[in-house]
Amino acid sequence: MCGIVGYIGKQNTTKILLDGLKELEYRGYDSAGIAVLKDEKIDVFKALGKLVNLEEKVNATVSKNDYEIGIGHTRWATHGKPTELNAHPHLGEYSYVVHNGIIENYKELKDDLSSKGHKFVSQTDTEVIVHLFENFYNQLNDTTAAFKKTIESLEGAFSILLITKADPTKVFFFKHGSPLIVAKGKEENEVLFASSDAPLIGLSNDVVYLEDGVGGIASSNSIEFFSDDYSWSTLPSSKQFAQKDGFRFFMEKEIYEQSTVVSDCMLGRIADKSISFDEIDSSIIEGINEIKICACGTSYHAGLTASYLFERLSKVKCNVEIASEFRYKEPLLTTDTLFVVISQSGETADTLEALKMAKDAGLKTLVVCNVDNSSMTRTADATILTRAGIEKGVASTKAFSTQTVVLWMLALYFAKAKNVISSEKMQEELHALREVPKSLVVNDKIHEKTRRLSKRYLHGHGFFFIGRDVFFPLALEGALKLKEISYLHAEGYPAGEMKHGPIALADPELFTIALMPQNLLYDKIKSNVEELSARDSTICAISPLDFELADDFIKTAKTDHYMLEFFEMLVALQLLSMEISIRLGNDVDMPRNLAKSVTVE
Ligand code: F6R
Repeated sequence: MCGIVGYIGKQNTTKILLDGLKELEYRGYDSAGIAVLKDEKIDVFKALGKLVNLEEKVNATVSKNDYEIGIGHTRWATHGKPTELNAHPHLGEYSYVVHNGIIENYKELKDDLSSKGHKFVSQTDTEVIVHLFENFYNQLNDTTAAFKKTIESLEGAFSILLITKADPTKVFFFKHGSPLIVAKGKEENEVLFASSDAPLIGLSNDVVYLEDGVGGIASSNSIEFFSDDYSWSTLPSSKQFAQKDGFRFFMEKEIYEQSTVVSDCMLGRIADKSISFDEIDSSIIEGINEIKICACGTSYHAGLTASYLFERLSKVKCNVEIASEFRYKEPLLTTDTLFVVISQSGETADTLEALKMAKDAGLKTLVVCNVDNSSMTRTADATILTRAGIEKGVASTKAFSTQTVVLWMLALYFAKAKNVISSEKMQEELHALREVPKSLVVNDKIHEKTRRLSKRYLHGHGFFFIGRDVFFPLALEGALKLKEISYLHAEGYPAGEMKHGPIALADPELFTIALMPQNLLYDKIKSNVEELSARDSTICAISPLDFELADDFIKTAKTDHYMLEFFEMLVALQLLSMEISIRLGNDVDMPRNLAKSVTVE
């Protein structure tokens, strides 16, 4: 979600840091900062908003650039609003840190350090790292031991670069959960750091992609790792290739990223026996008898999925509306309704207007959003961030999976607040939630299968995607993905509705993508698909169970929860539409006629 860079060497340090941050800016642009070190003096520059603001500040102040060490950060806010105070690097008394990830136990650490006299100035989780380090250094008088102890005390995900006046020739680094690369510079006695390849291209040939749990200390003449669990590799030479981490399209990268971003999204939110959201409190459900969800496109599909979960798990009435329809229907709104909007961008005009209408009518409002400080997060009473990181592909993928996970967690949060869920059921659900990242890992065999199937599904006169229950919104999402990037006609339908009209279209040139989960209504969907097969529709079944009538088959993993099957199937659908689009020679990331953020109605 954030980007970090670091440099040791004799070139223009501030320029190298700023150029590196520019390469990472697409990951977050709430604020940015650098800390640069010379003769035990650390200078710090921070600025809100785009990187150009920081650049202007640095260039206006620094005339002679003789810094030889520096660290930098571009921020996508998770804890604490985007302000200069919350921007990295964070200062203790004599050390600075940049951090990518989330420190789950920061509250306990902060309380403890505060009681020992440490003064905190930001609302971030990151600030505890530098105070913790100084706390240990003050006790041990040994920077390496203090850094190691700091790492041992942290829980969550963290890639860290730390510099300190106590040892001013070194950069301390560590990776756990979030990416970090250490690189040898092309010039002599030069070391670089970055959270992805792009800033390093051209400056280095030899890099270590750090594994989780690996860290060390670098200075101009040595890089010392704390363990042997590392190896040097060669850096790719193309920037575009590096930004896409070697994937052909951003959409493909984002499909593959889903497992990681969903882990980020759940960090600190799943406790032993319940769900906790720092950003809301349970009073949000007080006096609420109904939930109304409003959204557009893919976000609407996440909302529709959630409506099943809210009724099933939280026992609260829930209905979902397409924002552009809601606005003009003169809706009856009552103040015992919680109004939830869902949006990746936080800027979609129809959803934003619907949110304002609900606010004006006196309803409590909540936004599930990927972009902090967006129009919707500034308008709603409460915000839950999906933490998916910037989504570059126009066709939404990781935004949808994180939205769905947030809404599932929210349904459980409400179920607990309303006391309508048994502890056994809660345990089952929490266990399933923890397994979601696994279900979202792309299976090579399934990817290969979708590649092969894409040849067959280029022609014909259309697609039906069918499913029941939550697999109906998933069918809608599968159809939308195919439409928007392949320009082929596709429709999502509730499987049980086919015989009420659409089945008249069935013939071999009509392709039916059937979502057949093992754990939910399997026999029902099986009968629906049999009816279509009997009328010669070409069937592609996606299921963990073999199905003899399928013309084609994508076998997903067996799991013990229907929502895990949901995510397994989601990945298969995303890959299928992407492979068809690639085979057709379309621009997968920038399909015709579409925009990433729809700010007009
Ligand atoms: C489809 C897609 C769109 C968006 C819709 C709402 O892949 O991306 O359908 O979901 O335009 O956008 P947000 O979520 O930003 O409000």
